[in-house]
Amino acid sequence: MQRAAARVLRGARTPPARTRSATARAPPPRGLLYERHGEPAAVVQLKDLEVAELRDSDVHVKMLAAPINPADINMIQGTYAILSPLPAVGGNEGVGEVLEVGRRVTALKPGDWVIPAAAGVGTWRTQGVFPEEMLLKVPSDIPVLCAATLSVNPCTAYRMLADFETLAPGDSVIQNAANSGVGQAVIQIAKASGIKTINVVRDRPDLPKLVERLMALGADHVITEEMLRKPEMKDIFKSIPKPRLALNCVGGKSTTEMLRHLQPKGTMVTYGGMAKQPVMVPVSTFIFRDVRLRGFWMTQWKKDHAQDQESLTSMMDALCQLIRRGQLTAPACTEVPLQDYKAALEATMKPFASSKQILLF
Ligand SMILES: NC(=O)c1ccc[n+]([C@@H]2O[C@H](COP(=O)([O-])OP(=O)(O)OC[C@H]3O[C@@H](n4cnc5c(N)ncnc54)[C@H](OP(=O)(O)O)[C@@H]3O)[C@@H](O)[C@H]2O)c1
Repeated sequence: MQRAAARVLRGARTPPARTRSATARAPPPRGLLYERHGEPAAVVQLKDLEVAELRDSDVHVKMLAAPINPADINMIQGTYAILSPLPAVGGNEGVGEVLEVGRRVTALKPGDWVIPAAAGVGTWRTQGVFPEEMLLKVPSDIPVLCAATLSVNPCTAYRMLADFETLAPGDSVIQNAANSGVGQAVIQIAKASGIKTINVVRDRPDLPKLVERLMALGADHVITEEMLRKPEMKDIFKSIPKPRLALNCVGGKSTTEMLRHLQPKGTMVTYGGMAKQPVMVPVSTFIFRDVRLRGFWMTQWKKDHAQDQESLTSMMDALCQLIRRGQLTAPACTEVPLQDYKAALEATMKPFASSKQILLF
């Protein structure tokens, strides 16, 4: 077990021959480890870890906060498109503070804040040693919860709004699962650009509260999935144009109904499949409205743009500017001490949670 622990601390790196304790007097690093795939609450365990030797190009990081995202759950279940070698530390996103850097590290120094540059780092740990190229520096003048949730959802929202249709102020976008982390970022980024949003959520007992919360973020319309079929939808399009872009996080009926409202030649981007149902498109939608169906995966975008630091930097700068101006906030969340991880994992998998669980270290 000890050897396995040393391995997972290095993320994608091969285990070192020797390990060292982080500091002689500090408590041992701990992390949420899984040795087999399965239901998260059953297979994830809080274990002591060892910190690997700091090599010349490595960075020793103390984690501050890390969210539990649906993709993390799917990776533990073994159903995601990429899986970490087992045993693995869970978590793909989070923010940490640099404690120490190797001799050849020039872009980072102790005290800097860093987020993972790609998926699979294993962020649910109190500290770890990572190769420098696995980390991205972020400004430390933004709220810690914003930094902890920056690398996946706001980036996904930003790219989907920018890369598929050329949207101008006054244009509109429709999205389902609008209360998701991605959905909340879409609402805020669109609002900052003058783009109107039509936001679809599942009906629930406390719907008015959710509607109020999304409207406060900048949503123009918040409707339930049932509303998508109703004639009242016409009223919405008296004041704003039909959407050129639809963002699909759900699949199944929700998606088919949402597609009804897309402009001819508009684009629907699928980025999530929360209903675990295929996307069904009526033949008439293709023939008479010639809609475009696309997909998006942030992990792939990062791989495709690995040599294009400018695109990454300009996206991160734009998002941090929005955060500083108060136009982009962290998603509604529940902060959870690491030791309460089981309850947090269970809460993440419950419907209508409307709150992202964020582990604090
Ligand atoms: N492609 C990419 O690059 C990319 C990037 C980021 C996220 N994602 C994906 O986007 C999705 C959302 O991620 P997130 O972090 O934003 O999620 P999140 O904040 O945890 O929110 C989950 C969302 O899914 C909804 N949902 C759950 N089960 C559902 C069901 N059976 N039918 C309809 N809606 C359901 C929830 O709505 P209720 O409140 O009604 O339960 C909530 O809106 C996930 O599938 C994630 O993997 C993809």
